Amino acid sequence: MSKKTFVRDITGSQKEVNDLFVVTKKGTYTSRENKKYMMIGLKDATGSIDGRIWEAVDELEGLFERGDIVSVQSKVKDYQNKLQLHITNIRKLDADLAVDDIDHFYPAGDRDRESLEKEYGEIVRAMGNPWLTKLLAAFHEDVQLRKRFFSYPASTTVHHVYVGGLLDHSLCMARMGMAAVSIIGGDRDIVIAGSILHDIGKTQELDITRGFRFTDRGRLLGHITLGVMILEDLIRRVDGFPKELTDILTHIVVSHHGLEEWGSPKKPMFPEAIIVHHLDNLDSKVKGVREHMKDNMADERWSDYHRLYEAKYYKID
Ligand SMILES: [Fe+2]
Ligand SMILES: [Fe+2]
Repeated sequence: MSKKTFVRDITGSQKEVNDLFVVTKKGTYTSRENKKYMMIGLKDATGSIDGRIWEAVDELEGLFERGDIVSVQSKVKDYQNKLQLHITNIRKLDADLAVDDIDHFYPAGDRDRESLEKEYGEIVRAMGNPWLTKLLAAFHEDVQLRKRFFSYPASTTVHHVYVGGLLDHSLCMARMGMAAVSIIGGDRDIVIAGSILHDIGKTQELDITRGFRFTDRGRLLGHITLGVMILEDLIRRVDGFPKELTDILTHIVVSHHGLEEWGSPKKPMFPEAIIVHHLDNLDSKVKGVREHMKDNMADERWSDYHRLYEAKYYKID
């Protein structure tokens, strides 16, 4: 099932909109006439629109949740000069979407995917270590894995929450890693490969085919464990891959959160692992704070409190 009508293109002259959207808000209220109704927020990659449910509220209420991709049947209404959808039927999508169709529902990042994929190719081709080159070639040949790595967000709520966010995050670390190594030293190729592979487990921890969300497997195992399993699987495809290099890469995946209380069973134990850990922390925090400030400013200067980072943020002119 693919999408035909986008929020951007909905006009008052359209009578009906029957299509797929992501639910951003969902609330049930009672009108002055004592009639139960629902206010819904719907979005796709091009914008958001409000929806109302006036009929069969009890029946429809339990069929979807916030964050779900839903199939909507509705009539377009003009309410106080703003378009609204009056929804007559709504239900959660019960089939997976193709990865390519996800672009229709979530906004893109600042950089387009083509330029990110091109840069990824350039960085990987410039690597000198033949084993790491072979390993990343095996990664590239795994079409399913590559598609996920290129299209998934880096997280569902905290940072790089957009199609292609995982690739953007990993590449940003690889670029900063090359700069860092040129100044403070270290093995450039190990830092690049570590940056690209550190969050590879997110391709199984998360799912995007019915909206950005955690998989059951992801909740049970987490992306560090899953990352180790994916890495082992890739390494098995490269005949003769050196044992020590296997342990080095695995250690980078295992230690990239830096501390036990942040989910890493081991602290980083060589300079390249320390570099990858700090680059991960730097890129995810800076990006996460920027994304928070974009949508959550309390006034012109200060953001709302960020619960995970435990701070409010200040906007410089
Ligand atoms: Fe991570
Ligand atoms: Fe990361």
